[in-house]
Amino acid sequence: MDQNSPFSLSGKIFVVAGASSGIGLSIAKAVVQCGGKVIGIARREEKLREMVAELGEGNASYIKADLTKDEDIQRAVDMLPEINGYVHAAGILLHQPLKFIKRELLDQVMNANYYSAVLTLSELVKRKKIRRNLYSSIVLISSISNQVGSKSLLAYSSSKGAMSAAARVIASELAIQKIRVNTLEPAMVMTDIAAQASEVHSAEALAKDAAAYPFGYGLPEDIAYCTVFLLSDASKWITAQTLTLDGGWRTIV
Ligand SMILES: NC(=O)c1ccc[n+]([C@@H]2O[C@H](COP(=O)([O-])OP(=O)(O)OC[C@H]3O[C@@H](n4cnc5c(N)ncnc54)[C@H](OP(=O)(O)O)[C@@H]3O)[C@@H](O)[C@H]2O)c1
Repeated sequence: MDQNSPFSLSGKIFVVAGASSGIGLSIAKAVVQCGGKVIGIARREEKLREMVAELGEGNASYIKADLTKDEDIQRAVDMLPEINGYVHAAGILLHQPLKFIKRELLDQVMNANYYSAVLTLSELVKRKKIRRNLYSSIVLISSISNQVGSKSLLAYSSSKGAMSAAARVIASELAIQKIRVNTLEPAMVMTDIAAQASEVHSAEALAKDAAAYPFGYGLPEDIAYCTVFLLSDASKWITAQTLTLDGGWRTIV
């Protein structure tokens, strides 16, 4: 890609939390493809090593951290240089209907999906790790579960609703520093998390669900390409927005 293109990430460094698999890994690859450097964060070191091996040590590095732990967040942020943007793709899924929900389960999902994002961003901002006044960009991977009520996704949907709401507040607080904050709300994307759906839904139900997607289920790169646009200067006038990525599922009948 031409380094002068507004879509280029050349000369920029981005942190991707959740870079060890699925959407986060695909975002890490797309950042490098567009000329940027990436620092991946996740718990599975072996997977992070594979990411670096694939992308090259000059382009990628990693920090092993569990973002549900304050001490890991502190350590990870300590290790970072000044960055041009942050992507939060770390998260977990839980299927549990209301009558079986427990405080520990809510805590677990809110910790992994919501507290992890907000507390990491708080540290990054507090320690001035995100470049200011240069249209730096934060992208939070929320979920279409914030918009629809899918059975048994109570804890997950609530955590994503909290994340999407937080993003608008954070966008308003950081606008003065010209740091942009946007949220993506994907529907079903073929990753490890999506594979969990086959544990709770019949093959027949899944086939019916898939048939309702005019463009089929999403692939990780469908989210990654949108993310790199939001990280680039090509989107420098876009902030505090939530974009639904669903291949037409919600609106095309
Ligand atoms: N796939 C979908 O259909 C879909 C739809 C909408 C939104 N999303 C969202 O997209 C994001 C990525 O999910 P995915 O589908 O790509 O699934 P995935 O492959 O399971 O990715 C989840 C990522 O989060 C990381 N992670 C989880 N807990 C963590 C923790 N405590 N600390 C640090 N990293 C942690 C995992 O790494 P380690 O296990 O190595 O820590 C992994 O890299 C999630 O937030 C998910 O809610 C997914």
